[in-house]
Amino acid sequence: MSQQLELPCLPECINLVIGVTGSVAAIKIPILLEAIKDLPLNIIIVGTQHSFHFFNISELKVKHEKVKIFTDESEWTSWRQMTDPVLHIELRKWADILLIAPLDANTLAKISSGICDNLLTCVVRAWDLKKPFLFCPSMNTHMWEHPVTSEAIDKLLSWGFTLIPVVAKKLACGDIGPGGMAEVDTIVMEIKSRMELIKKI
Ligand SMILES: Cc1cc2nc3c(=O)[nH]c(=O)nc-3n(C[C@H](O)[C@H](O)[C@H](O)COP(=O)(O)O)c2cc1C
Repeated sequence: MSQQLELPCLPECINLVIGVTGSVAAIKIPILLEAIKDLPLNIIIVGTQHSFHFFNISELKVKHEKVKIFTDESEWTSWRQMTDPVLHIELRKWADILLIAPLDANTLAKISSGICDNLLTCVVRAWDLKKPFLFCPSMNTHMWEHPVTSEAIDKLLSWGFTLIPVVAKKLACGDIGPGGMAEVDTIVMEIKSRMELIKKI
């Protein structure tokens, strides 16, 4: 495997992929990483192109050097010929848990209808449904209350995925209501509970 595709492999650790999408709540990724840095986890971040507007990859790499960050570009620069591994398939094999935090309205809709046009949605499309999949929606209240949202969420729930519910608050756009991403503490609790189920801690 090329150096670019070397995946973190500390022994006795659970492998966590954190998918990040283009919601303003992606600014909390550094806080989330700080909160889980001492857990026995190998961590990979897979961000959509828009997610990287909300946090700084270089800063994150300096602070959390063991965390690997993949972009859509990684998928294509790591594949040259038939014998090369395909990144989204390597990631679905590697991961014990997939968390998407935040999950924006766009990627939620894409996942629910099977669209896989970037690295993150390809990992989801190829996901082993026997492994835990946690998702934290985050969107404006009007988007949250649109019927297309509950239809998509119901679909994900029917596949056995776990919803970490939104919170009601004053959102970044100024609106007040439901749609905010769950608190980091809640997300950490859910990660820990899945880790306990996997029985590696
Ligand atoms: C400043 C800003 C904040 C945004 N916040 C959200 C959000 O919280 N939730 C959401 O669903 N979309 C939000 N969007 C819209 C998404 O970024 C947009 O739908 C984008 O296409 C998502 O792409 P992705 O799902 O590939 O990351 C925001 C857009 C901007 C410009």
